[in-house]
Amino acid sequence: MRLLRKIGPMLRGDVRPWALVTGAGSGIGLATARGLAASGYRIVAVDRDGQALAAASLPAGCLPVQHDIADVAVDLWSLIDESVAVEVLVNNVGVMAGRSFTELPVAEAARVLHTNIVGTWAVSRAVVDRMLARGTTGSVVFNLSLHSSRVRMSPDYSASKAALLMLMREMAVELAPRGIRVNAVSPGAIDTGHGPAVDGDRHRAAVDAMIPARRLGTPQDVARVITWLCSPEAAYVTGADIPVDGGLFHYNWLHHLYGDAATERDRHQSDSPG
Ligand SMILES: NC(=O)c1ccc[n+]([C@@H]2O[C@H](COP(=O)([O-])OP(=O)(O)OC[C@H]3O[C@@H](n4cnc5c(N)ncnc54)[C@H](O)[C@@H]3O)[C@@H](O)[C@H]2O)c1
Repeated sequence: MRLLRKIGPMLRGDVRPWALVTGAGSGIGLATARGLAASGYRIVAVDRDGQALAAASLPAGCLPVQHDIADVAVDLWSLIDESVAVEVLVNNVGVMAGRSFTELPVAEAARVLHTNIVGTWAVSRAVVDRMLARGTTGSVVFNLSLHSSRVRMSPDYSASKAALLMLMREMAVELAPRGIRVNAVSPGAIDTGHGPAVDGDRHRAAVDAMIPARRLGTPQDVARVITWLCSPEAAYVTGADIPVDGGLFHYNWLHHLYGDAATERDRHQSDSPG
C-alpha cells in the first residue's frame, strides 16, 4: 500500500522553503536531500521504495512520500499537503535495464524511457505549475550523466539522459523570464556503495586509474554541486549542465592506448610527433 503522508498544521509554523528530491531513499538522492537540508531547506523525499525511505537517515522535518514517478496518472499533489510550497525540485531518478540494443526487449526499453523521461516530465510539470501559480522564483536541477553524450552500451539509459538534457534546456529558456532556473549535473563514476563502479577491487582500481582525479566520486560530491545550483550564488546560472566527474569526460582513446601524461611525454621523446 502506498505510504501517504499528509502533513498538518504543525509544520506550517516552520518557515524554511521546501525542496522536493526524487529517488531520495538512497545514493545521490539521499545525499542531495541531506545537503539541501543543511543549507536550510525542508525536504519532500519521494521514492518508490518505502523500505528505503524508512531505513534512510532522512533530515529532520523531512516529508517522506512513497511514489513511483512512472505512475504519471497519480496526481503528485494528492500525496502532498496543499501547504507545501516547493521552491526547489531535484529530478534525480534514473533507471537502466543494463542490456544492449539487440538484447533489450522493446517493452523493457519503453519502461525505462517512460520512467526516466515521462515520469520526470510529469513531476516537473506538477511542481513547476505550482511555482508559476504562486508567482515565486524557483530552481530545478536534473541529475543526468556523462552518458547523455557518451555511449553507455545501455541505449535505453543514454537515450533517456540525452532526451532529459534537451528537456532541461527547453525548460531553462521557457522559464527563465518567469524566475525559474533549470540546470543539470552530470556525474561520472560515483561510489554509492552498489553498482558497477565498485564491483570488486580490481575493477575499482581500473576505474580509479581512468579518472584524472584518480578516485571515484562520492554522492556528496554531486550533492554539493546540486545544492550550489539551487543557491542564490547561482542566481545567473540557467540551462547549464555541469559535469561532476573528476575529469572523466575527457578520458579518451589516447589515454587508453598510451597511458598517462608522463608515459606520453616519454613516448614523444623517442618518437616522431604524431
Ligand atoms: N551512481 C553513479 O555512478 C551515477 C553516475 C551518473 C549518473 N547517475 C544518476 O544519478 C541518479 C541517482 O543514481 P544513484 O546511483 O544514486 O541511484 P540509487 O540506485 O542509489 O538510488 C536511486 C533511488 O531512486 C529510487 N527510484 C528508482 N526508480 C524510481 C521511481 N520510478 N520512482 C521513484 N523512485 C525511484 C530508488 O528506489 C532508489 O532509492 C540517477 O539518475 C543516475 O542515472 C548516477
